Amino acid sequence: MNSLIDNKLKVLEATSKQYWNIPRETAVHLSLLIKACKYQNILEVGTSNGYSAIWLAEAAKQTNGNVTTIEFFEERINLAQNNLKDCQLDQYVKIKHGKALDIIEVLTKQINNAELRLFDFIFIDANKAESIDYFNALDPLLLKGGMFVADNVTSHESEMKDFLYLFNNHPGYQVSYLPFGGGTLIGLKRNFLLYN
Ligand SMILES: C[S@@+](CC[C@H](N)C(=O)[O-])C[C@H]1O[C@@H](n2cnc3c(N)ncnc32)[C@H](O)[C@@H]1O
Repeated sequence: MNSLIDNKLKVLEATSKQYWNIPRETAVHLSLLIKACKYQNILEVGTSNGYSAIWLAEAAKQTNGNVTTIEFFEERINLAQNNLKDCQLDQYVKIKHGKALDIIEVLTKQINNAELRLFDFIFIDANKAESIDYFNALDPLLLKGGMFVADNVTSHESEMKDFLYLFNNHPGYQVSYLPFGGGTLIGLKRNFLLYN
């Protein structure tokens, strides 16, 4: 992590409550997972001002990867774009403007038409009540051996109840949990040929 990026992250951390950013501890773990597993094709649902996207992009830069991130609030998209530019990471990130489920539908068509590759790391952090819909739509877009990550599983447990039941009992995922901030669920999509 270079000092340009680290300084920007520290500035953004002063307003993290206002923009609902993930805590630094969670961001560090996500970055570490991407780098260790060499994930390259990353999707984020819920950009806000780009704090987590900076972490994802910094990791993607090191894996020769890229980040697609979805946000429907135009003012936040502009902030995210500027924050990524300030970190010289904007070239690694495509921000998609629109409602998450609409954009996911477009991404699905592009993947089905072989215009895009499957994702290997998906992080959902938008409308918590829609988490189960994001998962159902995104599971087919995630490579086996990839990771599906959801934030706020403790702080928003009741809104995410259906998703949590499905994900925690899903035979296709090995699930673990990060206890920082609102709580983050991490699922490794099993590749039955490689893992038990
Ligand atoms: C918790 S914040 C994301 C924080 C960001 N991941 C970070 O840690 O820096 C959630 C964001 O999702 C956006 N959002 C909520 N529902 C959405 C939807 N249905 N489609 C697109 N964006 C949505 C909100 O405008 C908000 O900026």
